[in-house]
Amino acid sequence: MLTLGIETSCDETAVALLQNGREILADVVLTQVDAHQRFGGVVPEIASRNHLQQLLPCLETALQKAQKTLSEVALYAVTAGPGLQGALLVGVLAAKTLARTYGRPCIGVNHLEGHLLAIALAETFPKPPFLSLVVSGGHTHLFAVEAFGRYAKVASTRDDAAGEAFDKVARLLGLPYPGGVQVDVLAQKGNPQAFSFPRALPGKSVYDFSFSGLKTAVAHAVAQRGIPTGQALYDLCASFQEAVADVLTKKCMAAAKQLGFGAVALGGGVAANSRLRGLAVERAAQAGLQLYLPKPSLCTDNAAMIALAGYEAHMRGERSTLALDARPTWHLEDTHGQHPPSH
Ligand code: KG4
Ligand code: ZN
Repeated sequence: MLTLGIETSCDETAVALLQNGREILADVVLTQVDAHQRFGGVVPEIASRNHLQQLLPCLETALQKAQKTLSEVALYAVTAGPGLQGALLVGVLAAKTLARTYGRPCIGVNHLEGHLLAIALAETFPKPPFLSLVVSGGHTHLFAVEAFGRYAKVASTRDDAAGEAFDKVARLLGLPYPGGVQVDVLAQKGNPQAFSFPRALPGKSVYDFSFSGLKTAVAHAVAQRGIPTGQALYDLCASFQEAVADVLTKKCMAAAKQLGFGAVALGGGVAANSRLRGLAVERAAQAGLQLYLPKPSLCTDNAAMIALAGYEAHMRGERSTLALDARPTWHLEDTHGQHPPSH
């Protein structure tokens, strides 16, 4: 079954073609970084316009790469939420129009389910039940995966998402948007013990996260010494990154052990972070847990994960109608077979 996935929830325009829910024939991501960089973050209006301009070229490229035509597509899967309203609308309308034109089903996918299931595009992936840490620019959650399609939220951030913290700290340090990957690169030359940054909510059975205190601590360090340069900048990036990776991995592994899971998976843009991946490997081994990491290009936004999540939902018999609408706030745990659930 050939599934065409479309992702336009934020600042990446992406189209993918997936054969039988697993084999990636094309996975095209057109980034809008240049359009947003001078504003230091994503401007929703500009994101929508860019999706409008980029989506059809992106679709053409994906079809060419996969050597397929639209008439061969059996299922359309599109991110319907959560995300920026105007950005989502572009993808949803395109997917519905294609589905209507070719007489094929179209299914609305929750973006977080895409991140969570990205691991199933790897050669080996966990069978439910397992615990999933989804860490992106707008979200930081631990989900208990009871089955594909059935998720229970175990914990969330109480303030900033992990990616948001990376991006805000990068901004404080004068680094260009998007900041997460810049901090990751600079941190590789730094000493993670150089600055002692706080770890919030340290209680062993408190699984929620909090990153705003850490961000404030970095802001204080910058206010006291000015924006560091050279080795001091690398050290600050490494110390901040260590604090984020330390808390994420500690809480994730503790929750998995205490709740009786044998396997843990990561997903979302921050799961591309080199230190988070390294520390997760170390701590999962110490805790006797199986760890599953998607490759970095499948952690950041892409449409292959949306095609996969849509395919899986379709195979479970779940359906969207052509009344499908964008759902800017859509909680993954509310999905229960409807795409998206009615208001
Ligand atoms: O999943 P994603 O691509 O988009 C959202 O759904 O938000 O995640 C984007 C987030 C941004 O905050 C970005 O700075 C962060 O992931 N990110 C990273 C890295 N690559 C992307 N953060 C830390 N280290 C990285 N290597
Ligand atoms: Zn994302």
